[in-house]
Amino acid sequence: MKNSLQSAIDAILNKECVVFPTETVYGLGANALCSQSVNRIFELKNRPPSNPLIVHISHIDQILSVATSLSPLEQKIFEAFSPGPLSLILPKKKEIPSNVTGGLDTVGVRIPNHPIALEFLSAVNLPICAPSANISGKPSPTTYEMAQFYMEGKAVILDGGTLDIGIESTVVKVEGDKIYILRSGYITTEMIAEKTGILPCENTAQEHHSPGTRFAHYKPKATIITFEGQIPKASKNSALLFLNKDIDLSEYSHSFYFDTVRDYAHALYYTFFQCDKLNISTIYCELPPNHGQGVALRDRLIKAAQ
Ligand code: TXA
Ligand code: MG
Repeated sequence: MKNSLQSAIDAILNKECVVFPTETVYGLGANALCSQSVNRIFELKNRPPSNPLIVHISHIDQILSVATSLSPLEQKIFEAFSPGPLSLILPKKKEIPSNVTGGLDTVGVRIPNHPIALEFLSAVNLPICAPSANISGKPSPTTYEMAQFYMEGKAVILDGGTLDIGIESTVVKVEGDKIYILRSGYITTEMIAEKTGILPCENTAQEHHSPGTRFAHYKPKATIITFEGQIPKASKNSALLFLNKDIDLSEYSHSFYFDTVRDYAHALYYTFFQCDKLNISTIYCELPPNHGQGVALRDRLIKAAQ
């Protein structure tokens, strides 16, 4: 039987976790005001405690219950992309326990753009911190089947089917009149520049203490090998993920062609999951061009290959 909204609300009030769909990836949520509930997320995911969580809210009015302030530029960015796949790093309110933020004095906040997420967040009426609902290091779940694979029997799971975007939110931090991208995502630097007139600085996780980007990520059981241009020779039991139609596929028994970078990003984690089910040992992945949404997809592919 599918889990209901009421069972999800009951779980949160009982300090348990809930897997819920967002437009990006499924999240593993808990009450962000209760450190005991938050600990459960780290246990279920086997997540390093220094890796901070994003707090999900259903309305911009709730932002000052989580963060101490919102500058005019931060407000402009948040309003331009919310609800949507953008997480904004803000100064943390003391009511948010320190295990939510890995001990940092800032907190990531986002309003997911998914009807089930919004219904759940407004019904429960609490800020919900949620990382992706995978076991740490593994590909993020983008289908109900993947969410069940990771969390069946461990958390209530709300079924949102296959998600629209399939790659995580862009994590953004503002300092004065500068905008920094701590993790690339669906929202590109070009989209932010268009709304604000300021071109964000990319790949700034190191300088800005985004601990999550340090850990192993997005890895299926198979070894990932990335390539650009020349297609690698197929090895035993290998698969190919590619964008270039002119590739000669004769050597590959399993190949996945994507018409656009958007489609490739959307299908990436589920394709990794399928390859694991097929017991593929090596997945050769074509890197997309390093602009627009190619930036986030390259980031995920390069991390998966490390
Ligand atoms: O699309 C998403 O963002 C998904 C859905 C569920 O909302 N969530 C997600 O969470 O991807 P997670 O935990 O897998 O990734 C959170 C990222 C990490 O890179 C972490 O370092 C960064 O956000 N982050 C969170 N709070 C931060 C903070 N206070 N300062 C710097 N980086 C932070
Ligand atoms: Mg994650």
